[in-house]
Amino acid sequence: MKIYNIIISFIILFNGICNCFEYTDTFQVYYLEAPLMYAKYGDLLSHINAFHSGVGFRSIYNASEQFTVDFTAQPSIISSLFPASIVNESLRTEINWDSYATVSIQTLINDTYWSSQQHIMNCTGEQLAQYLCWSPTFNNTKYNLFDVRDAESNQVYLPSRICNDFAWSSFDALFNLGATVVSNLKPSRDYITLYVTQEPVKIEYEDEATWNEITKFYIDLEKLKEMNESMTSLVKTMDHLFNGTFFLYVDDSYYNLSLAVFKTPISFTYTPTPLPSGTPDKSSVGYNSSCYSPLNPNKPSSISGGWIFIIILSCGVSTYLILGVIVNKFLLKQSGLDLIPNRSFWSGFGVNISAGFYFIKSKITGSSSSQYSYISSSSSDNL
Ligand SMILES: *[C@@H]1O[C@H](CO)[C@@H](O)[C@H](O)[C@H]1NC(C)=O
Ligand SMILES: *[C@@H]1O[C@H](CO)[C@@H](O)[C@H](O)[C@H]1NC(C)=O
Ligand SMILES: *[C@@H]1O[C@H](CO)[C@@H](O)[C@H](O)[C@H]1NC(C)=O
Ligand SMILES: *[C@@H]1O[C@H](CO)[C@@H](O)[C@H](O)[C@H]1NC(C)=O
Ligand SMILES: *[C@@H]1O[C@H](CO)[C@@H](O)[C@H](O)[C@H]1NC(C)=O
Ligand SMILES: *[C@@H]1O[C@H](CO)[C@@H](O)[C@H](O)[C@H]1NC(C)=O
Ligand SMILES: *[C@@H]1O[C@H](CO)[C@@H](O)[C@H](O)[C@H]1NC(C)=O
Ligand SMILES: *[C@@H]1O[C@H](CO)[C@@H](O)[C@H](O)[C@H]1NC(C)=O
Ligand SMILES: *[C@@H]1O[C@H](CO)[C@@H](O)[C@H](O)[C@H]1NC(C)=O
Repeated sequence: MKIYNIIISFIILFNGICNCFEYTDTFQVYYLEAPLMYAKYGDLLSHINAFHSGVGFRSIYNASEQFTVDFTAQPSIISSLFPASIVNESLRTEINWDSYATVSIQTLINDTYWSSQQHIMNCTGEQLAQYLCWSPTFNNTKYNLFDVRDAESNQVYLPSRICNDFAWSSFDALFNLGATVVSNLKPSRDYITLYVTQEPVKIEYEDEATWNEITKFYIDLEKLKEMNESMTSLVKTMDHLFNGTFFLYVDDSYYNLSLAVFKTPISFTYTPTPLPSGTPDKSSVGYNSSCYSPLNPNKPSSISGGWIFIIILSCGVSTYLILGVIVNKFLLKQSGLDLIPNRSFWSGFGVNISAGFYFIKSKITGSSSSQYSYISSSSSDNL
């Protein structure tokens, strides 16, 4: 009797894992970069737009099991630099912004688009599922183009929040969830830095003079959008704008930046940046339990009794019958109808399934199998 229960339990267990769970899969994690996009706004913004980046996952068991997760400025990167509109209201001029960013999850890696793919980590299916639950914490949040640093000490005053920051936050989250870093790689990423001579001052209260300064700055900045201006006038505008004070709009506030005009105050760099290291801390990863699941949402999350029966009928029945007949014929020397394995078993079908599970569970966990013994003693059998 025990043998049949064990065989059935294994059949169910294996079918369960193969059809329903990919938590045991191994995924390769990629740092994805899209090629230089030629921006219609010319040199300045084509640099800003140099690379888009994202995080890719590819199962080592099934090459078509793929995910891409990326962070994109909405409606565009331009809208994080230039106001949506500047309008004269009755009391004062209003600067309106329409800038945010979204996280998107796709179930493929577009090899045409992501022309650079660096394998940087390995993770399990379970870690991937947890990561995908973490990623929406970046959804519909701010997009900050500039990294503001001290010109002397390089200290970061205001961090950027662009696609690369999302990618590195993703690597941190995966690392803390237990993913392994493949080697001492230092992939390169874009930084768009504004260098300042002192800590940015957040403008808490806008009196008329302050507000006029800010609006004048943005009205001037808007001129940069007119790229059909001559190169000379463009350089003049930039010289003027990046000459001293810059009013940066971050998280619904304006910051007064004193740009480091003695050096180039704005820089675009593509710099090797370390991957996470140290001791992973799973508790630092916040995620939402009701979120996107990589498991096919159409598949039942737990196998019901009906599914167990179908699985046994479709996959297990031949193994079960063949093994049963062999056991009965050669070990138990039975013949005729008695060769059909476990005849009396079928009357207590449900009970025996759970008995088998308890038996295997007790073998795995080392706990007492008293429940199994109890049930099996009540279903006397020919084994
Ligand atoms: C591989 O993954 C794809 C996408 O999830 C799935 O449609 C396909 O059935 C899988 N193939 C195998 C052999 O599991
Ligand atoms: C707003 O008013 C100022 C003068 O107060 C004017 O110079 C400017 O062109 C006006 N802007 C718009 C968008 O109407
Ligand atoms: C992949 O990317 C290319 C280039 O950006 C694009 O033309 C194509 O439509 C994309 N394919 C899919 C399936 O999204
Ligand atoms: C992010 O929000 C948008 C709607 O603004 C939604 O369509 C998208 O699925 C969300 N992404 C994730 C990863 O939840
Ligand atoms: C990552 O997975 C690959 C198989 O795709 C394996 O060869 C490699 O040793 C793994 N690396 C780590 C650090 O686990
Ligand atoms: C911004 O800072 C500069 C230099 O510290 C100062 O001269 C200027 O008045 C400030 N502007 C505003 C609007 O706070
Ligand atoms: C730039 O082109 C737009 C139309 O494409 C035009 O309205 C605008 O006046 C031009 N600006 C300059 C400075 O020539
Ligand atoms: C830059 O600022 C300095 C001092 O504040 C001033 O003398 C110079 O004219 C400014 N240059 C431009 C192009 O605005
Ligand atoms: C989890 O996600 C659901 C649906 O996306 C949302 O309604 C809920 O507020 C989220 N909970 C937390 C704690 O973020």
